[in-house]
Amino acid sequence: MEFASEFLLLFVGVSSLLFYFAWVVPKKVSRPPGPPNWPIIGSLLYLSKLPHRSLEELAKKYGPIMYLRLGFLDHIVVSNAEMAMEVLKVHDADFASRPPIIAGKYASFDWSNIGLASYGDHFRLLRKICATQLFTQARLNSFGPGRQEEMAYMVENIAKHSHGGKLVEIRPIFHQLTSNIICRMLFGTRREKSNDLLGNDFDNFFQSNTEMLKIMNKLNISDLIPILKWFDLQGIERSMKHESNQIKKFLSKILKEYRKGNKVLANSTSTDFVEILLSLDERLDDKSIMGVLTDMIGGGTDSSAITMEWALTELIRHPKIMKRAQEELDTIVGRTRLVLMSDLPNLPYLHAIIKENFRLHPALPLGVPHLNTKDVQILNYKILANTTVIVNIWAIGRDSKVWKKPLEFDPDRFSNSDIKVGGSSYNLLPFGSGRRRCPGSDLAQHMVQYGLATILHAFDWSPQPNIKLEDMNMMETFGAICPKVEPLVAIAKPRLSSQIYKRFT
Ligand code: HEM
Repeated sequence: MEFASEFLLLFVGVSSLLFYFAWVVPKKVSRPPGPPNWPIIGSLLYLSKLPHRSLEELAKKYGPIMYLRLGFLDHIVVSNAEMAMEVLKVHDADFASRPPIIAGKYASFDWSNIGLASYGDHFRLLRKICATQLFTQARLNSFGPGRQEEMAYMVENIAKHSHGGKLVEIRPIFHQLTSNIICRMLFGTRREKSNDLLGNDFDNFFQSNTEMLKIMNKLNISDLIPILKWFDLQGIERSMKHESNQIKKFLSKILKEYRKGNKVLANSTSTDFVEILLSLDERLDDKSIMGVLTDMIGGGTDSSAITMEWALTELIRHPKIMKRAQEELDTIVGRTRLVLMSDLPNLPYLHAIIKENFRLHPALPLGVPHLNTKDVQILNYKILANTTVIVNIWAIGRDSKVWKKPLEFDPDRFSNSDIKVGGSSYNLLPFGSGRRRCPGSDLAQHMVQYGLATILHAFDWSPQPNIKLEDMNMMETFGAICPKVEPLVAIAKPRLSSQIYKRFT
């Protein structure tokens, strides 16, 4: 009897210990801390119209890795370099998928593009094509003369608009610059060029892409509360379907013409992206080709234009920094010609300005959400499979533990620094990092450097009259891509020898 009770005691003791280690301890190794969750909406109430700012504030309370339930979906948000490295480097492959948002059906033709594709063979093939065909240095160089011509068009445009001291609206000018550069790469011609093959279709096509981006910039509540998908309460799916059909119609026509041997610009000598994508050994279906083409327009046009607008705004607010950049340009370029691409490597101060601008004004402050395909352990936390992962690029760039006086625009912090923006420095991640890193980052940096160098060298810039520098509005608007809430309007005065502008005015 005594033996039996001792055995029972031992059995209960061991079972309790087993239970504790099997159930209780693993529960302690649980999800990261985060704000309270309410039924159905989760933590949505804690997000303002500028979610990157709200999430930065929440991270001050809950830490650099946070859990939030938004609607019905699990999210984690990482807000410092160490946690970003865990997601984008240590566990890169596990976090390399994308949440299957509704936009993927329409904007990327059934998730056939790069940006919204889930991680797998198709995605890897498209990224390989980017690395070996579309964004090689040789390919980017082959479009160099086109970029140079676009810079001259931009100077012409600004000279025309500013003639007689008129105020210049900057946003459409930068947008025209970047969309023409991308358009030349995709179709071998400028967006504005009238063309027998296309008539008005070209402009309508770009218009539809712009509309699609605008729609995608809205928060689609059906992505977070899937049951609402049936009702499409915000009308988002309906609008996306319409634009997607327009885009598909145009691109189908283009592909048909190219297959017949007709290019958009018959006498273009450079090989454009449509030709490359149609001639690959690994045959892509039409939906994937369309997906890649719209990826380039959606990914490359607004983001680069917005970045330049932020940079010029900062320089207008900081006239001493602008003057120093102009002195550097005068030393390297002189005043008798426009900036050439070959000048760009010799402008270290300009490069520091651009890094500082990427730090404070990343065009995509929350990047593009990732998704983990299996359970992952970070620190003591278990991140369950199918969690949406957000890297708060904006908060990382303003982390006061890393950056002295983080809110000050001070390019000198990058003098003699080897911090890069392309994804190898985790405290500055405007293009993300790892398998999902922006494939267009070299092109984007080049466009921003070249564009900014050209306008600073060709014009002196000042704010509109009656606006004090310290009163310039530096707030951004809601969206995946975040422009200034108030588009920049400024005064531009030519500063090069007069014959450079003669043909423009
Ligand atoms: C200043 C300009 C730009 C910025 C700040 C920017 C930033 C980003 C960021 C943060 C991501 C998400 C990275 C991640 O998921 O971790 C991304 C993805 C992407 N970007 Fe860019 N980008 C810019 C320009 C461009 C250009 C010029 C192109 C192409 C012409 C481009 C094409 C793409 C594509 C296709 C993706 C999706 C990559 C994937 O899902 O694997 N971007 N970009």
